[in-house]
Amino acid sequence: MSVIVVAFLSLAVLPASIGATRTFTSGHNPLSVTATNGPIVPSYSHAAATTTLSGVTSATVSSSVAPSATAISNGTLPTCKSIQYAFPAGTGGNATRAAAVKEAYQYAWDAYNEYAWGYDELQPLSKTATNDWYGWGVTIVDGIDTAIIMNLTQIVAKELAYIATIDFSTTSYGDVEVFDTNIRYLGGLLSAYDLLKSGQFPTAGYIQADIDALLSQAIVLANKLAYSFNTPSGIASGTYTVSATGVTYNSTNTASAGTFLLEWYRLADLSGNASYRHIVDRGEAPLVNPSPSPVFPGLVGTQFDTTSGEMLNFAGGWHSTVDSFLEYLIKVYHYKVTNTTTFYKDFWLEAASSTASYLAVHPYGFPDLTFISELDDNGTLTDFMDDYSCFIGGNLLLGCKVTGLDSLCDLGIAAADGCHQTYNTTLTGLGPIYWGWYDSATNEQPADPDRDVDAATRAWAEEYGYFIEYGDEVYASFPESIESWFYAYRITGDQRWADYVWDAFLAINSTARNDVAFATVNNVNMPFGGSQSNSLDSFFFAEVLKYIYLTFEDPSVVDLGQYVFNTESHPVLVQCGIGGVDNY
Ligand SMILES: *[C@@H]1O[C@H](CO)[C@@H](O)[C@H](O)[C@H]1NC(C)=O
Ligand SMILES: *[C@@H]1O[C@H](CO)[C@@H](O)[C@H](O)[C@H]1NC(C)=O
Ligand SMILES: *[C@@H]1O[C@H](CO)[C@@H](O)[C@H](O)[C@H]1NC(C)=O
Ligand SMILES: *[C@@H]1O[C@H](CO)[C@@H](O)[C@H](O)[C@H]1NC(C)=O
Ligand SMILES: *[C@@H]1O[C@H](CO)[C@@H](O)[C@H](O)[C@H]1NC(C)=O
Ligand SMILES: *[C@@H]1O[C@H](CO)[C@@H](O)[C@H](O)[C@H]1NC(C)=O
Ligand SMILES: *[C@@H]1O[C@H](CO)[C@@H](O)[C@H](O)[C@H]1NC(C)=O
Ligand SMILES: *[C@@H]1O[C@H](CO)[C@@H](O)[C@H](O)[C@H]1NC(C)=O
Ligand SMILES: *[C@@H]1O[C@H](CO)[C@@H](O)[C@H](O)[C@H]1NC(C)=O
Repeated sequence: MSVIVVAFLSLAVLPASIGATRTFTSGHNPLSVTATNGPIVPSYSHAAATTTLSGVTSATVSSSVAPSATAISNGTLPTCKSIQYAFPAGTGGNATRAAAVKEAYQYAWDAYNEYAWGYDELQPLSKTATNDWYGWGVTIVDGIDTAIIMNLTQIVAKELAYIATIDFSTTSYGDVEVFDTNIRYLGGLLSAYDLLKSGQFPTAGYIQADIDALLSQAIVLANKLAYSFNTPSGIASGTYTVSATGVTYNSTNTASAGTFLLEWYRLADLSGNASYRHIVDRGEAPLVNPSPSPVFPGLVGTQFDTTSGEMLNFAGGWHSTVDSFLEYLIKVYHYKVTNTTTFYKDFWLEAASSTASYLAVHPYGFPDLTFISELDDNGTLTDFMDDYSCFIGGNLLLGCKVTGLDSLCDLGIAAADGCHQTYNTTLTGLGPIYWGWYDSATNEQPADPDRDVDAATRAWAEEYGYFIEYGDEVYASFPESIESWFYAYRITGDQRWADYVWDAFLAINSTARNDVAFATVNNVNMPFGGSQSNSLDSFFFAEVLKYIYLTFEDPSVVDLGQYVFNTESHPVLVQCGIGGVDNY
């Protein structure tokens, strides 16, 4: 997940600029590009990296997937494509570790229940509550599917009863930001519904009407979110107002505009209303037919104009404000193979291929370490990477298994290892939000030349291959690296990935845990994280604890061949081949 990071607005050090590419202070905030001052002419001059992906251009769509008899989940669970390593029965996971993660969920939930029940999020230092996501109880909706998977049945029953009472048609907390509302609320509802209807988790203790309300509530919410697609280009605007269909912004970031396919395809199939799919395919069209063309095929910039559909900059990559747009292109193809999703898959392959050729680089003096750079507004390599990009390891590994292109697995492993380097070299064992390095050829920092003469930065980079700038040391419940190691473990069966996840869990447990719950850690390079901030994001429950838990559960639970995760770690059931409410 990621993109707008509004949740950080509660941190005093961060500027309150919704829609900014990044909301932490490090001097890297890109230009604010609007329809009137963009697009910018690309000027790319960096030498290509040595890595290439073999076989991408000759990729063909696999036609071996069997059509499913029905798109509606009803206890019949086809495995579309075998994704996971074939763990011998009884191997994989670790019940002791899984139990420790379950304890962490129970611990944090008890505090939410005591101090913040019904509010959006717990403030774990002041033991108070905040409604920062429209007052619909985001911790409940975002966190319920993790509780379902953990079989925390009493928590689930209480959460289900609450969800049935939420009024998603209105809020007294201002305009609704579409991206997070979609991935946290809509994704959470659909995932809980699919899991409980799958027949794989106990439902005996729950009220059937409360389970059915998950879907009816999803429809209420989606019908409101649908207003945001009412733009001339069809690209969703960043926000909608509950009372009107007004479009608030003329430009929107790419992740916000392009992170709908999975939820809305699923909703179309579950509800029988194909409009949900038509809306998001229309909104996706300008993004996958970008004008002007990106500097490298597939690597679209961070902003699109919602009126003209034009791409407004060349700041491509897998970082915040692009990330989950790319993520969903391969995932929706895994969800269902159609002509349209095949087109999305091919666009994703272009992006992956360009990434291997241009963005995947080795820092100066570290030929075995791989980072995935982001581009600046002009399409020039920055030699900086953010934590959000760390989902790429898992996404490439999934894409590798879905397409059968093994070179994608190599790149995915390299990227997952690169992110691990930023974890196991800090004092706490947790990674920072953002880091840079020196160019392998020039030993210079192209985006921040001041770093070239900064002795402390140089010293750290010489030892570890990267550096962290002041202000970027925060660990705010980021799931992305853990997510990639979870995929790496499930897909390769290699125990070292599970051990990375466990190390991260222990680091979280010893730095982010306090006398009440868990909180944001302010400095990954200070003993015990330095200090904590007064926030516990709902994605700690939705993403962090779910990916860790599933690493240690039996690998057959939420099998990657049967489920596909949205960017907030909400799994929905894949639909094999052609099927559903229509076929186009
Ligand atoms: C689920 O769908 C399959 C395929 O249509 C059908 O054969 C089966 O009877 C259904 N199961 C239930 C419990 O409705
Ligand atoms: C399971 O995890 C525990 C705790 O980390 C560890 O002591 C144990 O060796 C692990 N078991 C296996 C079979 O790896
Ligand atoms: C889930 O928990 C209930 C009790 O809360 C128990 O009866 C049931 O066996 C558990 N199921 C699994 C699969 O652990
Ligand atoms: C299908 O969804 C669209 C989009 O929200 C809505 O406008 C339409 O009324 C729905 N159709 C039905 C039959 O419910
Ligand atoms: C959006 O574009 C329209 C048409 O070009 C213009 O009239 C309007 O002022 C713009 N709104 C904003 C918020 O920039
Ligand atoms: C991009 O290019 C324009 C025009 O050459 C220049 O003014 C601007 O500073 C460049 N931006 C970056 C981030 O390099
Ligand atoms: C970090 O983990 C890597 C394996 O990915 C290992 O080679 C390295 O020694 C570890 N570094 C530290 C400082 O523990
Ligand atoms: C997590 O922290 C708590 C509180 O310090 C401790 O009781 C528990 O054993 C820790 N869990 C693990 C797996 O170390
Ligand atoms: C899908 O693509 C195939 C091959 O290009 C074509 O024959 C078919 O008509 C397309 N189906 C739809 C529904 O457009």
